[in-house]
Amino acid sequence: MANDPRVEELNKNFGIPEALKFEGEPGGLIRAVISTPEAEGTVYLQGAHVTEWTPAGQKPVLFMSSKSLFTPGKAIRGGVPVIFPWFGGREGGKPGPAHGFARSMEWQVESTATGSNGVTVVLVLEPNDATRALGFDSFGLRFRVTFGAALTMDLQTHNESSGDFIFEEALHTYLSIADIHQASVTGLEGTTFIDKTDGFKKKAQGNEPVTVAKETDQVHLNTGAECVVHDSVWGRTIIVDKSGSNSTVVWNPWVEKTKGMSDMGPEEWRVMICVETANASDNAVRLAPGASHTLRAMIRVE
Ligand code: BG6
Repeated sequence: MANDPRVEELNKNFGIPEALKFEGEPGGLIRAVISTPEAEGTVYLQGAHVTEWTPAGQKPVLFMSSKSLFTPGKAIRGGVPVIFPWFGGREGGKPGPAHGFARSMEWQVESTATGSNGVTVVLVLEPNDATRALGFDSFGLRFRVTFGAALTMDLQTHNESSGDFIFEEALHTYLSIADIHQASVTGLEGTTFIDKTDGFKKKAQGNEPVTVAKETDQVHLNTGAECVVHDSVWGRTIIVDKSGSNSTVVWNPWVEKTKGMSDMGPEEWRVMICVETANASDNAVRLAPGASHTLRAMIRVE
């Protein structure tokens, strides 16, 4: 909404002249739009969801579905969904949305700033009635994103309870590529992965890069390695460096699964690959009372 008073307030408190402004959409979502000589970027308050990062002189690095919803309470398709506190379906058939609640809730702006690495936006999510109803009442989440020549995203989790807190998380990054048939991912050689397309069997990656020639949905375990997406058509490499992460998920829905997704164009599986910086399954994080954990993804293009 053009005249949403929340947008005016956000611009008054957190807008940065010539670099960052908040905008309201007709559907009710609010986003921060970053525009500097180094990069263009967008982050939605819903989900702390980055939907654009375009460093100067490049095509957009993040894939966004042309059919994505931008509707309060519904997940956005593309960009970088923030997955927390469970990855995929919730364990033991307990209630709750796929990939957790963080991606479909509105976060609060804590601060904005400009610095030598770009424009930084910090968003926070605290427990609310909906998270409490799902049994989560003692966590603090802070998402810090810097848009510059690199895109840096930190997801910090704080355990505010008196017991251990076990959770899964991911920066579910959709990368834009020219042609999935002519792309590969290096960095995961020699790892073991859970193949979610084949009954969650554990398999060995071997020494070859990951290539995609069918529906691919694999959780590579016990890997802190940087991954590199090689796009031979556009002649660019996208480097996904990380810390605080022991899992990397590679996902492409391919033809049939895409047909069943109302928020994805029928041919769009050809031009995207997800390389997700995660802690999932065997790599779930266990946090002691009062402790914090930071999951970080740093993306750059060469
Ligand atoms: C991936 C999962 O991370 O996300 C896949 O491994 C899942 O199993 C995909 O299909 C997309 O999930 P969603 O909930 O955004 O459709």
